[in-house]
Amino acid sequence: MIQPHGGTLVDRLVSDEARDALLAQAESLPSVTLDSRERSDLEMIATGAMSPLTGFLNQADYEGVVEGMRLANGTLWPLPVVLSATDEEVAAVAEGDRVALRDADGALLGVMTVESKWQPDKQRELQACFRGDENHPAWGYLQSSGSWYLGGPIEVVALPRHENFLEHRLTPAQTRAAFAERGWNTVSAFQTRNPIHRAHEYLTKVALEQTDGLLVHPLVGDTKSDDVPSEVRMQCYQVLLEKYYPMDRTLLAVYPQAMRYGGPREAVLHAICRQNYGCTHIIIGRDHAGVGDYYGTFDAQQIFDDLGDDLEIQTLRFEHAFYCKLTGGMATTKSSPAGPEDRIFLSGTKVREMLSKGERPPAEFTRPEVADILIDAYAKRGAGV
Ligand code: ADX
Ligand code: MG
Repeated sequence: MIQPHGGTLVDRLVSDEARDALLAQAESLPSVTLDSRERSDLEMIATGAMSPLTGFLNQADYEGVVEGMRLANGTLWPLPVVLSATDEEVAAVAEGDRVALRDADGALLGVMTVESKWQPDKQRELQACFRGDENHPAWGYLQSSGSWYLGGPIEVVALPRHENFLEHRLTPAQTRAAFAERGWNTVSAFQTRNPIHRAHEYLTKVALEQTDGLLVHPLVGDTKSDDVPSEVRMQCYQVLLEKYYPMDRTLLAVYPQAMRYGGPREAVLHAICRQNYGCTHIIIGRDHAGVGDYYGTFDAQQIFDDLGDDLEIQTLRFEHAFYCKLTGGMATTKSSPAGPEDRIFLSGTKVREMLSKGERPPAEFTRPEVADILIDAYAKRGAGV
């Protein structure tokens, strides 16, 4: 099976024996409250989804990542995974101390040994990592988080509790075991933050022609408020997969990361994490993890050419996919000679517009079963539900 990034699958969940002692110790430690992105990151660090990270980035690793996509030891790592804190939270914290990491309701998630405590230059982070300005969603997040970062290894007492998708919350160890059990030597990962429309479906079907299995791995951490909520998307994935996919070759599991909208750098993060989940290939199409026009349409593919041998997972790259009226099937500019007038493709904005008016997107764009769920969800939302 493919090696995790850095060689070892990290496991930061403490043993049952150590848990009680840690819970008792945490009572006397200063507390830092994690927001929902940090809670997602803690979960991914604990399960090894972010191997080789053993905690939130310390200052040397952070500087290396922002400047050159490398941890201080030279390992490829494309985006900050950091724990922010407020003035009040850090007042009693010095480097070398231990701090209790708490959920918004005060529940203990884990303990961090603080290697660094610093005030980052968030403008520089925005520009270097996101090519962003104040309209980029990364800026909204950076402004909402505390002005300090605390970095260091974590010990996690329990994975964050979830109410939804419980049977689809597989850790990297669990997806690796599932692939082995099914006898899949090669597996394509499909990252998405959208309902699966026909163009997405086409990419995954081409992948199924190439690899033994397909991991449909929707991101269910925080997304922009105008992205379709993960509960609605999961219903779409389930009906779609049941009817249109070979389920002996397809696995649906959720990916807990919060979306960064980091384009090329986030594509590399998505790839590293999917390698940790045991995937050998990852689909990267047009404008992967993009937002607005901050990135070139194929930047998230090209970035992989400059990484050298750092990653074992391979990219399956796609040009713009659409339904082609001339050839009567799904195609890309690589496989169909048709001009733009023969392509059926709707932008995300256009689809949202149609759905909010109760209009059904054409069957060439989205499967009717998926359209039904989306129309229903938009109607309920319009009714204030
Ligand atoms: S993303 O933020 O997760 O990248 P999205 O869910 O829209 O957004 O896309 C999932 C994957 O499908 C990405 O790799 C993206 O590049 C690819 N993709 C989406 N739509 C198309 C399309 N029409 N043609 C080619 N690739 C696409
Ligand atoms: Mg905080």
